Amino acid sequence: MSFRNYKEKIDEGDTVILYLSNNLHAIEVRPEIKNKKGEMVENVYQTTFGALKVRNLIGSDYGSRVELSKGWGHVLQPTPELWSLTLPHRTQIIYTPDISMILLQLDLVPGCIVVEAGTGSGSLTHALIRRVRPHGHVHTFDFHDHRAKVAQEEFEEHGLAEFVTARHRDVLEDGFGDELNGKADAVFLDLPKPWAGIPHAVTAIKDDGGRFCSFSPCIEQVQRTCLALEQHGFQDISTMEVLQSELKVSRRTVPVRDLSFLKHKESKNPVEEKPSSEKSYVVGAWPASTPGHTGYLTVATLPPSFTRSEKNKTDKIGKFE
Ligand SMILES: C[S@@+](CC[C@H](N)C(=O)[O-])C[C@H]1O[C@@H](n2cnc3c(N)ncnc32)[C@H](O)[C@@H]1O
Repeated sequence: MSFRNYKEKIDEGDTVILYLSNNLHAIEVRPEIKNKKGEMVENVYQTTFGALKVRNLIGSDYGSRVELSKGWGHVLQPTPELWSLTLPHRTQIIYTPDISMILLQLDLVPGCIVVEAGTGSGSLTHALIRRVRPHGHVHTFDFHDHRAKVAQEEFEEHGLAEFVTARHRDVLEDGFGDELNGKADAVFLDLPKPWAGIPHAVTAIKDDGGRFCSFSPCIEQVQRTCLALEQHGFQDISTMEVLQSELKVSRRTVPVRDLSFLKHKESKNPVEEKPSSEKSYVVGAWPASTPGHTGYLTVATLPPSFTRSEKNKTDKIGKFE
């Protein structure tokens, strides 16, 4: 339940983030777990700093220091950002630099209805939920039965079920369902063929118009998506890449020349240049290499329906190959 509200104390059933100096771990706070034989045994979590008795977390303060058998760590309240770094990977996931741009570009605010496909590991979904709650809703789809099921269980465990519905569906074949026709403020696609989902996005977006975003690793996917967006009446189509670069803060010692001898250069009594001294500075240095490519974000606006051309309105239910 710890995803839902900020709270002071850790309760049984919470998901907490154990922060160690070299790693982060998401731990479900259960005093006992099943072993391989199906017997309930003491829940002891192993880390590079030794073992943690999970039972001891119950009643501790969030943010407090906890003892491990060979060291210590801190227990933090989970956020979508920390969850993206610790979640069990069932697929490739979207990370915080791209997520922050997606939330901005989709114009999401509390109360929005957002449609997402595919759910994957639910990394983006957690951030979407935080943005649209308490009155908005995320409808997320995946054609992989197990992933859709596990995602819904995770949302329930995290106390987020009332803000999200995870469904098992091939959205390219079957769309997002009649119940979402004209209901969405925004549609997000992280699928191998996002262009094929665009007619369904048009159907789902409100008559007042809305935003669309897709994430694709390859530029060929982007090209087909942009063509399809244009064909279906979208405007303001643009593609961007988000590259995060972290400055490394360090102390550097540099030689400093004493230039005072220049003042006396033309005088009758010139002085000799003094040897350089050294001075230490705190500097922020760019990394030697740039971080790797994740994917391109293609964003677009579907204008209000009364401004859409007749052609686009009829295309709305057509299928783009
Ligand atoms: C890369 S993962 C999404 C990761 C997700 N954005 C995250 O941050 O965790 C892509 C997902 O799309 C699903 N998928 C692919 N084609 C689909 C389709 N036609 N309909 C629904 N889901 C689909 C896959 O099963 C996979 O789980």
